[in-house]
Amino acid sequence: MNLPQQHDNQISESDRRSFYKVIFSRRDVRGQFLPDPIPDDVLSRILYAAHYAPSVGFMQPWDFIIIKSKTVREQIHNDFKRAHNEAAEMFSGEHQDIYRSLKLEGILESPLNICITCDTKRTGPVVIGRTHIKEMDTYSSVCAIQNFWLAARAEGLGVGWVSILHENKLKAILNLPDHIAPVGYLCIGKVKHFYQKPELESAGWLPRMPIENLIYFDQWGDNSQTHNSSLVSQIKKDLTFPEHSVQEKE
Ligand SMILES: Cc1cc2nc3c(=O)[nH]c(=O)nc-3n(C[C@H](O)[C@H](O)[C@H](O)COP(=O)(O)O)c2cc1C
Repeated sequence: MNLPQQHDNQISESDRRSFYKVIFSRRDVRGQFLPDPIPDDVLSRILYAAHYAPSVGFMQPWDFIIIKSKTVREQIHNDFKRAHNEAAEMFSGEHQDIYRSLKLEGILESPLNICITCDTKRTGPVVIGRTHIKEMDTYSSVCAIQNFWLAARAEGLGVGWVSILHENKLKAILNLPDHIAPVGYLCIGKVKHFYQKPELESAGWLPRMPIENLIYFDQWGDNSQTHNSSLVSQIKKDLTFPEHSVQEKE
């Protein structure tokens, strides 16, 4: 794999567009996986992308457990089914019906599952940047997951994050030591197609929130400057950018 050289740090206009295209066309994939194997060179690049994520104190707390075994995946899938049934009971009325109709994992259909973990003890008890907020190690592993997700999309592969699992059961199935947390359980593979919108949005579960409602100035909740902010006007103008200026390749 040829990693970019130090001097090669210019981002061209087409690089920039491609970068945003990857971001806006990434989806969580559950029901569109194809069984085709993922070539090693492709998976290698995606793993490198994850490994080049930022991490608190350069702790690099992640490990990547690549799960091909059908038996292991069946064990995970069985736990998913149990957790999924429990989860359904937590919603009421119409929401419970919609919840039950959603497909929320592709554990067995995808050719590969990957668990990205967080080693809370990776570089000893005192880590630069993690001295006061301990969760920073987990956040670092989440950065790796996001890099993984976006790199997979750039390679034309779909990723689905499965979190409807019992953490203790997941740890036992994967034989994780106590200090290793399973941060993301991911399914990855080629896909039939990528949806244009989040499936939860299309199913009427939730809409995408208007970003201008989520912007405050100087203090939590202070949106008094919103109406005369040039930034917010610009943000409203860009509203159609994700859906309309990013075309599907597949
Ligand atoms: C931390 C995290 C956990 C998630 N867990 C699940 C899950 O268990 N099952 C699922 O179908 N999707 C899961 N998702 C995917 C979200 O539902 C999805 O990102 C969201 O609906 C927006 O859709 P999009 O990713 O296609 O843009 C998870 C996403 C994140 C970031």
